[in-house]
Amino acid sequence: MRRYLVNRPLNELPHRTYDVVIAGGGLSGLYAALLLDEKYAVALLVKEDLMQCNSSLAQGGIAAAVARDDSPDIHFRDTMRAGAGMADAEAVRLLVEQGPHEIHRLAAMGVEFDTDDKGSWLTTCEGAHRKKRILHCGGDATGRVIMEKLVEKVGQKSNVDIYKHHFLTDILTDHHHRTAGVIAFSQEPTVFMAPRVIIATGGAGQVYPYTTNDKVTTGDGIAAAIRAGAETANMEYVQFHPTAFYSPESKDSLFLVSEAVRGEGAVLRNDKGEAFMEKRHRLKDLAPRDIVAREIFRQMELSGREHVWLDITSRDEMWLKNRFPNIYNHCEKQGIMPHRDFIPVVPAQHYLMGGIQTNLEGKSSLPGLYACGEAACTGVHGANRLASNSLLECVVFAARVVQSIHQGGVFLNDEIAFEPSVLAGNLENGDEMKTRVRKMMQAHGGIVRNPQGLVHAIDYMNEILSLTEKLNLAHIEDFELVNMATVAREILLAALTDRESAGSHYLDEEPEDLLNVSW
Ligand code: SIN
Repeated sequence: MRRYLVNRPLNELPHRTYDVVIAGGGLSGLYAALLLDEKYAVALLVKEDLMQCNSSLAQGGIAAAVARDDSPDIHFRDTMRAGAGMADAEAVRLLVEQGPHEIHRLAAMGVEFDTDDKGSWLTTCEGAHRKKRILHCGGDATGRVIMEKLVEKVGQKSNVDIYKHHFLTDILTDHHHRTAGVIAFSQEPTVFMAPRVIIATGGAGQVYPYTTNDKVTTGDGIAAAIRAGAETANMEYVQFHPTAFYSPESKDSLFLVSEAVRGEGAVLRNDKGEAFMEKRHRLKDLAPRDIVAREIFRQMELSGREHVWLDITSRDEMWLKNRFPNIYNHCEKQGIMPHRDFIPVVPAQHYLMGGIQTNLEGKSSLPGLYACGEAACTGVHGANRLASNSLLECVVFAARVVQSIHQGGVFLNDEIAFEPSVLAGNLENGDEMKTRVRKMMQAHGGIVRNPQGLVHAIDYMNEILSLTEKLNLAHIEDFELVNMATVAREILLAALTDRESAGSHYLDEEPEDLLNVSW
């Protein structure tokens, strides 16, 4: 695998110098930029525009034990159980205990969570939560509302320079394998020198053909970290959301039908109209996501259809329009009236539990390289993320990264280890290869996996990586292909090595007997 995507001598490229570079302008990147002390000169690099990220798409909400009948301890137990016993207890403890504090900090920044008539925060339930602890904004527009407020705030910070349409290509390291900055590409490459780099570029949904993720999520930060030698963890754990709106025409990403709809009483039904989750798990439609997604997959195989149905006809039109305005609107545009019609839904890739391995301060194995948000693996999600813990993780761990930077010293980099290689030829058929990567991941790296399929898909990713190793890469699409193949390969290799089914990593075996598991 090539070490750098950009292959031009560094001294030919424009240079900028900062104290901290943040790659990624989703919730975790923005939150880190906002909390960093004004004394740090910060470059915030964003692949496209500031609102274009998964955080803006988050519907259901942000989980935290803020209600009177709840506690961080119950939230801790729900998170550990949903994670199929694979979550890191210390990290989860930090998440749930620090969570309420960060919610209050967001509110103090001006984020308006939905309230009842008396002004108290409204909370709802989602899969595998035993308490109503999901705060939401604008009904089902939680991510967008939070992001809009933070974008406004970050624009007021004089120490933060925002570079839109800057694609992170490479993380630079010095001769002591310490982070020295990044290269970002915007028509031409630019070197951003900095001894501290925060990767907050989100996940890699685009390596699958059916995903709820934004089109920017091609795993760029994770792939750059792998090339720089940082460790990853838990890459086999890929979450499929049970209910994306089924549409044969959708490209790049599928519209999410929030789990909060099931939290408010919706029931999954098969072709015969049966509420199939009733016989599958004691929590029925609110069982952990991996279990619901697998059961839907099984029902689809049984019926030969490409989707199942979500039934929220127990609620009337006005209530639905008020509580889920965006979902209602989307369904209506597709000719579905949710108070009357069942909604066609299909599982779609939603979240990567793995990522760049970090400790509780967000530090990766590479000195000076931090990660937070979906790009990081803090261990809080184990093998299956609890619903609405992702926005919470973004704010809790971005705050940890900032605290660590504030308290830490800084090293002086020596020379950057960068030797341009002799390359020849351009990439052709990149688009076709991207499509093939996605198909391979769907067939072999998806909801149900087997070793032969994994090996076959790894071979294909290796083929792409060796083909592109000696080519001139000059376009963002080329970089994306290499990143997608790099991350896909990492997922597949981790899945092949981990012979034990747990949570979202499921090997083709005997069907699980889940009805009698204690919960
Ligand atoms: C949803 O609203 O169902 C998504 C929330 C999440 O992914 O946690």
